Amino acid sequence: MIDLKKIRSDFPGLQINVHGKPYVYFDSAATSQKPKMVIDAVTSYYTDYTANVHRGIYFASEKATNHYESVRAQVAQLIHASSERNIIFTKGTTESINMVAYSWARKHLKPGDEILITEMEHHSNLVPWQIAAQDTGAILKYIPITMDGTLDLSDIGLLLSPSTKLFAITQQSNVLGTVNPIKELVRKGHDMGAVVLVDAAQSVPHQSVDVQDLNCDFLAFSGHKMLGPTGVGVLYGKMEILEDMTPFHGGGEMINRVTMQESTWNDIPYRFEAGTPNIAQVIGLGAAIDYLNDIGMATVHFYEQELLAHAKNALSDIDGITIYGPENNCGAVIPFNIDGIHAADLAQFLDQDGIAVRAGHHCAQPIMDKFGVSSTVRASFYVYNTKDEVDQFIQCLNNIKKYFV
Ligand code: ALA
Repeated sequence: MIDLKKIRSDFPGLQINVHGKPYVYFDSAATSQKPKMVIDAVTSYYTDYTANVHRGIYFASEKATNHYESVRAQVAQLIHASSERNIIFTKGTTESINMVAYSWARKHLKPGDEILITEMEHHSNLVPWQIAAQDTGAILKYIPITMDGTLDLSDIGLLLSPSTKLFAITQQSNVLGTVNPIKELVRKGHDMGAVVLVDAAQSVPHQSVDVQDLNCDFLAFSGHKMLGPTGVGVLYGKMEILEDMTPFHGGGEMINRVTMQESTWNDIPYRFEAGTPNIAQVIGLGAAIDYLNDIGMATVHFYEQELLAHAKNALSDIDGITIYGPENNCGAVIPFNIDGIHAADLAQFLDQDGIAVRAGHHCAQPIMDKFGVSSTVRASFYVYNTKDEVDQFIQCLNNIKKYFV
């Protein structure tokens, strides 16, 4: 049973008024609110033990290093990685995917090789592959989506072939909420000998993810969408694949020995963490994982699904509404448009009522092209949202509609 009163009281960002109204935050797919414990963990690092990690033989540096490294172990546990050595800290999902596109793809792809992605990818799991294809002569292919917002797998047997060297797929669409059959897709990719990357930016915050069960080669996600600070993300990689990558950034920490002529590389994961890392943000991510573990990922998922069902049910009664995305197997994200009202206008009207939603193409323009729209409104929920907020949202939408008749 979820203690919503307690949860909501932990989030200072939910206590504010916007335009004189209580704040309703429905944009957690863009970034989540942060509980006080996370803010305190970041503040404590800056207040009580600021020092660099892995470099100092003194109290504060050892404390910072211990905290930083213990978060690596927490992340490994959260996603069921076999070792914390599989966990590389980055600044976010985008950097994690770019690391693979530069350090793995440029080493392994040659002209005529194929990269397979899907039409539902966020630009961060699309543009790096366009650039990698241009640089290596590889060919970029897409699994199409159907008008109900799921992957059209009817031609997967043609799209995935021994030429497919890299298969990169989102576990949950940031626009449509679609949850893809990721384990099956990883298996299909491996059957063809492809390396498989999973974009888990929208899944790790909302459900339990097990990289060993999925058997993916890479998995990328961000801290800021899962109650943690901005500026921290994770790249999980299988060890033998990480060993076969060139360094991404050169600098301190990632080396073993440097001479004027050449350098040798540090062990993994440090080889891929050049320079001073985002220490405070990593420590904050550890507090966010503690917070989510206290609630339990199964509870988070179950509660969000209830909220989603309640919201979809109420929204579908609104005249002229189009809700995009599948009916089932969907995360707590609702993209929609209302006839005769531009998505940006709707978002601005909602803001006047203190309700924050995202309007636009949501960094996934191919999805907009597919549905023949330039933008949608997107309401996205997290464990701190309530049914009352959803009801207020519906009432506001009905009121806004009156201005447009
Ligand atoms: N990826 C984030 C979103 O979907 C920013 O809004």
